Amino acid sequence: MSTIVLPRIMEVGGGAITRLPQVLQSIRSKKPLIVTDKVMVQLGYLDKLQSILQDAGIESDVYTDTVPEPTAASIQAGIKKMKSDRFDAVIALGGGSAIDSAKAIAVMGKFGGTVNEYRFPRQFNEPGLPIIAIPTTAGTGSECTRVTIITDEKTDEKLLCIGAGFMPIAAIIDYELTISVPARTTADTGIDAMTHAIEAYVSQKANPYSDSQAIAAMKLIGPNLRKVYHDGNNKVAREAMILGSTLAGIAFSNASVALVHGMSRPIGAFFHVPHGLSNAMLLPAVTRFSLDAAKERYAECARALTFAKPTDSDNVACEKLLTTLVDLNEALSVPTPEQFGIDKTRFFAVVETMAKQAESSGSPSNNPRVPTIAEMVTIYKQLWN
Ligand SMILES: [Fe+2]
Repeated sequence: MSTIVLPRIMEVGGGAITRLPQVLQSIRSKKPLIVTDKVMVQLGYLDKLQSILQDAGIESDVYTDTVPEPTAASIQAGIKKMKSDRFDAVIALGGGSAIDSAKAIAVMGKFGGTVNEYRFPRQFNEPGLPIIAIPTTAGTGSECTRVTIITDEKTDEKLLCIGAGFMPIAAIIDYELTISVPARTTADTGIDAMTHAIEAYVSQKANPYSDSQAIAAMKLIGPNLRKVYHDGNNKVAREAMILGSTLAGIAFSNASVALVHGMSRPIGAFFHVPHGLSNAMLLPAVTRFSLDAAKERYAECARALTFAKPTDSDNVACEKLLTTLVDLNEALSVPTPEQFGIDKTRFFAVVETMAKQAESSGSPSNNPRVPTIAEMVTIYKQLWN
């Protein structure tokens, strides 16, 4: 048996953002707070959204100070803003960081406490202010997950917070908002989405519902990831990628992520590597480590991603999965930790701490092959070979 949690409303397709007033009416929101970041302001997306609301006669206010890889301190100002007026909903506009910030603001603004009090293994299922999520990248799938990630800057730890309380009530999935995303961010977020689908499918918490979403996501992402990286104006590929990232989000939110994400968060927290990039650095090595424990499942991933032929044996498909993941990192110009500028001495000094943080996040225990701390340390060190 599986418990499946989804947004109540999803508006999907080019131009879907114009449906925002109807979405607000259907949840009886009269005064939403828009939570976003400075990039959305510069790109003119905030203006566009506000004019849609103005034309519909809806009063709104805005908080634009969310930051990439949000910290506990960074969301406090958002909570203060939320409490400054009688807002009845939160509109999250932006990439995963803006949506994750909005989730924390919507829940902690209503229930108080510190991020630490909401961290895994606690399950927080009480609804905060209703959230309408409008993603502008095809990546985290945060618009349809019951997860938010906030960094505790005091301990350099990315805290995973889970529960139905973090699920948006509505998601507006409009690929036109992703057309102007730069190639580097397109690649990083796209790899994140692909990793969600693979990890949901091989997770020990996988179930028939999450499997069907994960396979559909991989079929959309596999053939289109290189295309959107090389030609951001390819609308067909952009549409496939954002739909794929949403389905991958649904898949992992209703199963789990696994070892890649468990080990990726500490790299992000310690060395400020964008989330998708640290996933990409780890994905080939973690797949190699895990492969034998779930060969049929990894082979099915390779076929769904179109990295292997439907007729390939499991062994051949798994081999092709490994080689394609390595090739893909090269094609998408994913840097090694060294090329990214990480100091090797510092990295090696904290590998043990990173492995322990990975373990306490709970994600590695969902992996088909559950690693020891020493095995995670070995994988971290392999990234430098
Ligand atoms: Fe992710």
